[in-house]
Amino acid sequence: YDTKTPKSVTSDPTSFAHDSVRNRWPVILTGAIDDVYRAAHSADPEKHAEGNKIIQRLVDLKYGVLHDYKLTPIVDDGYPDEIARYNKEIEQLGEPTWLDVPWLFSECYMYRRISTFFSLSKHWKNYDIFSRQKMDTFRTSRNAVVELASRYKEFVTELRSNKDATHDEEAEKLLFTEMFEICLWGNATDLSLLTNLTYEDIQKLQGSQARKAAEKNILINHLPEAYAILKKARDEGKKERRVDFVLDNSGFELYVDLVLAGFLLTSGLATHIILHPKSIPWFVSDVLPGDYCLLLNAIAEPRKFFETQSDEEKAQDKTPAPLADKEAEDLLFVAQEWTKLFKEDQIILRPNRYWTAGGSFWRLPAEAHDLHEDMKRAELTIFKGDLNYRKLTGDAHWDPTTPWTTALGPMGPGSGINVLSLRTCKADVVVGLPAGKDEELRATEGGGGDTGARRWAWHGKWAVVCLSKGS
Ligand code: F6P
Ligand code: MG
Repeated sequence: YDTKTPKSVTSDPTSFAHDSVRNRWPVILTGAIDDVYRAAHSADPEKHAEGNKIIQRLVDLKYGVLHDYKLTPIVDDGYPDEIARYNKEIEQLGEPTWLDVPWLFSECYMYRRISTFFSLSKHWKNYDIFSRQKMDTFRTSRNAVVELASRYKEFVTELRSNKDATHDEEAEKLLFTEMFEICLWGNATDLSLLTNLTYEDIQKLQGSQARKAAEKNILINHLPEAYAILKKARDEGKKERRVDFVLDNSGFELYVDLVLAGFLLTSGLATHIILHPKSIPWFVSDVLPGDYCLLLNAIAEPRKFFETQSDEEKAQDKTPAPLADKEAEDLLFVAQEWTKLFKEDQIILRPNRYWTAGGSFWRLPAEAHDLHEDMKRAELTIFKGDLNYRKLTGDAHWDPTTPWTTALGPMGPGSGINVLSLRTCKADVVVGLPAGKDEELRATEGGGGDTGARRWAWHGKWAVVCLSKGS
């Protein structure tokens, strides 16, 4: 079911794949090793000893990546079909090595393999090596989190007080666009890119002024069409109007996903929101079900959470300023709203192991029949982030003017799914651009010039919002 268009591979010297494997993965793996080291240090002797074995496996893995070893079969950790698929793919690729292998598959394989180091242990079964990092960055997103909590309370109160008034379509559309753009740019700040960005860079990306300024960086924007779909369903009085989120990162991005979810529910543009998280630690910062609870707990006790030092602050001997009363109240309001929506099943978390499979979504309809059937019931499915975009497009070398619907293959028209991708560009693949746009962006400063590399698309500065109707 894969596309025939050649896939992005780690051996292509002009690609971000090439750079990622050689420069970013070692940093990510070193971070993972540090994390287990610290956690093992304070554990009892048996757990400590087992932690040391896990560290050794991580060290071996890092060494193998840097020295271009072969990808070896993954040991079954209780999901035989899933593991068999991974191992079959390695076989079909003809025993590939780390520095010459399709990027998308090898990256998924790396995280899947790491998870077995833990799942097959006795004391570290559900340990999340990235948890500490995820919560720490959420803490450092405090300014934007607080700003948005105040905005959230404002528009929820406003929407409620106008409940029976005729909807002002223009005003609603404006709010819809604002909420989606907040949600889109929340993706610019994922942790796997932290190897290139500082915390200050991240904070700059999150404020409302930055968002306004970034509007011109949205290269394709199908939000009006997405609005029309949801409005039509509401106007027709459809009883269940479901919007799905195929989630990406936790912390700030999950927070803005929930801001958007809350807006869709309060405005009646949706009646139910289904959130699809990952089941194993994934691409550093992706949401696990436990991250959702951690986030809600954090904002339910805002002082406790935001007034605790982050690792970064500890290192710099800085103490966070206390929250103002209004800030704490706004955050509490948000926490209560979301807890209520969750308790009343208007927001539902629905994990599925397929989200951590190694293939692209071209295979989803054939490989995950039940999931596909379930997804067809949504009015709109929002795929968050860069990895989901790569999975939707098969992470292939498409000509950038290829229509979005073509690049989706079996997930395009006919799939029964209205696919809306909100993606800040952090990889090479991009489609749906007008002729000449790629060349124009390459010619900008740092855009890649005539090096053959599409550098402009690597660091989350540019974004695309693409819709494909499934009918
Ligand atoms: O920056 C590269 C990368 O690690 C890609 O491999 C991956 O697609 C992306 O980051 C993860 O980004 P996101 O969290 O937006 O999916
Ligand atoms: Mg991610």
